[in-house]
Amino acid sequence: MNVIPQDIGRVVLNLITNAFYAVNEKSRQGIAGYEPTVEVQTTLSPLPGRGGGGEVSIIVKDNGNGIPENIREKIFQPFFTTKPTGQGTGLGLSLSYDIVKAHGVS
Ligand SMILES: Nc1ncnc2c1ncn2[C@@H]1O[C@H](COP(=O)(O)OP(=O)(O)OP(=O)(O)O)[C@@H](O)[C@H]1O
Ligand SMILES: [Mg+2]
Repeated sequence: MNVIPQDIGRVVLNLITNAFYAVNEKSRQGIAGYEPTVEVQTTLSPLPGRGGGGEVSIIVKDNGNGIPENIREKIFQPFFTTKPTGQGTGLGLSLSYDIVKAHGVS
């Protein structure tokens, strides 16, 4: 599939910014031996009979504290943030969701 590079770039940047924030928060807890890690992985799975096209996945992983179960359903809502005032608008994931949706899911 074709992607709009600027838009997908913004999605990846949002995810990486969130990941860096999460590992930075965790490293401030002073847990012995904690190594902040952020990983990005991309794959393109060819669809049978459709040339080189396929499904693109972009995975951003961090070993921060994770997203508590009780807020998982809210993280894509516009303006939802758990960050202190002035540190987050809560628009990162909402915008990212819209961009991914506009690219279509097959
Ligand atoms: N990698 C992550 N680890 C832990 N919590 C996360 C992670 N990514 C997102 N979240 C949670 O989801 C919320 C919403 O994320 P989102 O990117 O939409 O907004 P934000 O990061 O708070 O602000 P902004 O992106 O506008 O600076 C975050 O406030 C945080 O609670
Ligand atoms: Mg964010």
